[in-house]
Amino acid sequence: MNNPEILIADYSWSGKTRRVADQLMDLLPGAGRYELTVPAGTFPTDMYATDAVATKQITDHAYPSLTTPLPELTNYRLILVGSPVWHGRPATPVHSFLQTLTGFTGMVASFFTDAGDQGDYDAVFHQWAPAGLTIGPSHENGANLSAWLTELTSKEV
Ligand SMILES: Cc1cc2nc3c(=O)[nH]c(=O)nc-3n(C[C@H](O)[C@H](O)[C@H](O)COP(=O)(O)O)c2cc1C
Repeated sequence: MNNPEILIADYSWSGKTRRVADQLMDLLPGAGRYELTVPAGTFPTDMYATDAVATKQITDHAYPSLTTPLPELTNYRLILVGSPVWHGRPATPVHSFLQTLTGFTGMVASFFTDAGDQGDYDAVFHQWAPAGLTIGPSHENGANLSAWLTELTSKEV
């Protein structure tokens, strides 16, 4: 797989996941980047208030819209989806992005950052993904990024 066939799609609320995505970009020169953004004011600046907003979005099935135009997915064979762990789940903009991957024939794999408790992150990521999407192994916060990339690219689809 060539790096231009890899897309790094990340949401970051306070910058930590963005830094991991930046490291991935350094390891994969030529890869594509899509930073998930939501309308200004969607989430408060307080962590607990943000958690409450995200939980209500999930309960109401009212996920935030993405404000950055979506990339042309047919260019890619592997999409690395990054997010902070929120309440043991991916951040809700990741749900919005995953819905755009219906029919994507490549592989998706997730990476996340957390403060020590990933909760049900992987299970919820799989649950939020459209049916039929191929999902590879996820990257645990703090684990070796290069080893993960080698594992993924050896599973080429
Ligand atoms: C709304 C919210 C909920 C969070 N829930 C968790 C959690 O369940 N477990 C955990 O370990 N960290 C949790 N955190 C901490 C973040 O996952 C952690 O700081 C992450 O690295 C932040 O990434 P970011 O800077 O890319 O937003 C939460 C943070 C926020 C804002």
